Amino acid sequence: MVQFSLCNPTEIRFGKGQIGSVGVLIPDNARVLILFGGGSIKKNGVYDQVVKGLAGRVVEEFGGIEANPLYETLQKAARFARDKGSQFVLGVGGGSVIDASKFLSCMLATDIDDPWDMLTGDQSEITPLPNGAVLTLPATGSESNPVSVISSTERHLKIPFANEKARPRFAILDPTTMLSLDRRQLENGAVDAFTHVLEQYMTQPVNTPIQYGYSETILRVLIEWGPILVETRSEEACENVMWAANQALNGLIGAGVPQDWSTHMIGHAITALYGIDHARTLTMIMPSLMRYKLNAKKEMLARYGRQVWGIVEPDDLRAAELAIVETEHFWARMSCPIRLSESGVKISASDLIEHLERAGHIALGEGGDIRPDDVRKILKLAA
Ligand code: NZQ
Ligand code: ZN
Repeated sequence: MVQFSLCNPTEIRFGKGQIGSVGVLIPDNARVLILFGGGSIKKNGVYDQVVKGLAGRVVEEFGGIEANPLYETLQKAARFARDKGSQFVLGVGGGSVIDASKFLSCMLATDIDDPWDMLTGDQSEITPLPNGAVLTLPATGSESNPVSVISSTERHLKIPFANEKARPRFAILDPTTMLSLDRRQLENGAVDAFTHVLEQYMTQPVNTPIQYGYSETILRVLIEWGPILVETRSEEACENVMWAANQALNGLIGAGVPQDWSTHMIGHAITALYGIDHARTLTMIMPSLMRYKLNAKKEMLARYGRQVWGIVEPDDLRAAELAIVETEHFWARMSCPIRLSESGVKISASDLIEHLERAGHIALGEGGDIRPDDVRKILKLAA
């Protein structure tokens, strides 16, 4: 096992009706800033529950956080928060709003108007404002992890930032908030969570049977309940997918294992340049990346095929190939594309590579051996 340290201080409040408890989770005297997106929370009753839970507090609100949140919008939010003397940031929404809330907490710790360079570097000296999350879209795990993925129109970039101290103090996961999600977002969420497990699992085997076994359980749950969720939105399906997505990226299954986030980094470049939904960029890239790295990843691919898909095939290479095909079938069942051509957009490999280079993502994969030239070949395979 690789050495690791694991501390996830986020208090999870899971279940129907938990949003009402938001008030007891935030210090009484804190001036609260509610951050939200394009308005879904005002239509589905989540905003009303939050405001009721915060009755009697000093509360300000800043809406308009975009899907794939923009740094330039967060600069406006930071000016607003400084003006109001905000002391606690409460993100209410999906991964974009919660990423934005965590990043804003870091921005507010710096006291400068344009802290991009400071936040892309070492954040160990930055102690963010406390923040909390009310999740309305299970997908990213952002509600209890340290990562924010932020885009900048000025810099033409979409990149991840991480600050352990930015993990939300609490995350409220009420599965009934999912009832207003459209089918596409439900598909995206289940599939994004699925890829998060694979990015932490599909490398070279190490001695982590607990992490691997739990990863396989999360994958099996998403395979079973993702399609049921999309078709029925049953209570059980909402609960199981919401919890699976949280567990997929809260640090536990990634502890002590090598990780390969190359599909995500290529996916961020695709979203930055072409605006395609995050989850759908991943399903278009990952099968080809796995095929490109078949030899290096064959042991874990074969294990995944046997444990998750029930493939009965003694030869590792053959089992690995079959596992990739099963993955593609699952994503197609979730109406997600598995080839770039399905996006209907002409995607330029050179432009994507240029984005990766500017983002500093030029040595991807668990071994740092996926270089720009390899990305070009992966994109060709995914065409
Ligand atoms: O903006 P509003 O009006 O809230 O509408 C949102 C948005 O249009 C809507 N929505 C959310 N909850 C809803 C709802 N509509 C109706 N009912 C509800 N209950 O859904 C749309 C998409 O929301 P968004 O937050 O963008 O989706 P998601 O949760 O998939 O987040 C995607 C972002 O997270 C980043 C992605 O790169 C992308 O920027 N990621 C963050 C990660 C992390 N922090 O660890 C990891 C992920 O890999 C990912 O990169
Ligand atoms: Zn993701």
